[in-house]
Amino acid sequence: TPRVFSGIQPSGGLTLGNYLGALKRFAEKQDEGIETIYCLVDLHAITVWQDPEKLRHQTREAAAAFIASGVDPARSILFNQSQVSGHAELAWLFNCVARLGWMNRMTQFKDKTAGKNAENSSLGLYAYPSLMAADILLYHATQVPVGEDQKQHVELTRDIAAKFNHDYKTDFFPIPEPAIEGSATRVMSLRDGTRKMSKSDPSDMSRINLTDDADTIAQKFRKARTDPEPLPSEAEGLKDRAEARNLVNIYAALSGESVDQVLRSHGGQGFGAFKPALADLAVSKLAPISAEMARLMADPAEIDRILGQGAERADAIAAPILAQTLDIMGMIRSR
Ligand code: TYM
Repeated sequence: TPRVFSGIQPSGGLTLGNYLGALKRFAEKQDEGIETIYCLVDLHAITVWQDPEKLRHQTREAAAAFIASGVDPARSILFNQSQVSGHAELAWLFNCVARLGWMNRMTQFKDKTAGKNAENSSLGLYAYPSLMAADILLYHATQVPVGEDQKQHVELTRDIAAKFNHDYKTDFFPIPEPAIEGSATRVMSLRDGTRKMSKSDPSDMSRINLTDDADTIAQKFRKARTDPEPLPSEAEGLKDRAEARNLVNIYAALSGESVDQVLRSHGGQGFGAFKPALADLAVSKLAPISAEMARLMADPAEIDRILGQGAERADAIAAPILAQTLDIMGMIRSR
């Protein structure tokens, strides 16, 4: 039976990239009637320094973003990773399955340590993909909706599952599929069409935050970097125009139209007209989300209650799978 698992790091405010690449699609998967498990991966967040008070706040805020985006804690399981101890335990087991060479090929680790002293990175940052494999396989999840940037990590998860099955002569772990779908699988920075939109970019003008107000959203799109040409009327015409393509992709994902449909109605338009139309569309979709987030954040105890209840439901699935994994590996289970 299909089961969806995905996660988001509560390591800062969430962006339009997280919304279009992940949150919006998480709600869609749930609405398709598939079993859906969504996780705020606080253990992943601490692979780089997190101030404890801020981490608590950001975890609640990210939970509010899930709910405001349409993830219903009654229909999906929504919880924070550290409340289900099986994640850390299975990650250790997978640390003994995954190979150093596999970790060395992970581009996210290379990107995160580029230009820095890699020797001073946490050991957790290096082992990060093994914990992510544990997240997914702890639930025998079959589908992992993510943005393009997480594809390599899901492929590593497949490799770990396959090696475990091979080494222990079993078919215990299903091989999960990445679900990378739609026109916004890689939302780019508004300042540089070659970099992805990211909560860790030093420039706030590079991204739309889910908590930005209408004026800020309009201003960020107005100042977004573009070329001087009008929009083409066919997708082919966006080929060498990364910034233009990004704005059209964002418009398509927000409106639910295809890129071709967007270009049919906006082709020939200059950015002087397209950017305000995009800003209006973004505000109309994001304002209700940020309002709902603010409403939920007024009652942090209620958010904590939802996460606790989600964790109990998650643990009920995870605990037997962890126990069977330990058994397969030859650990005595006698208490
Ligand atoms: P994270 O927290 O960086 O991002 C959360 C999700 O948002 C997507 N995303 C984007 N999509 C499109 N355009 C963008 N600019 C953009 N930026 C972010 C990401 O692809 C991701 O789907 N390692 C993961 C978290 C994780 C996880 C998991 C995911 C931990 N365990 C298990 C799936 C399954 C991460 O750092 O995502």
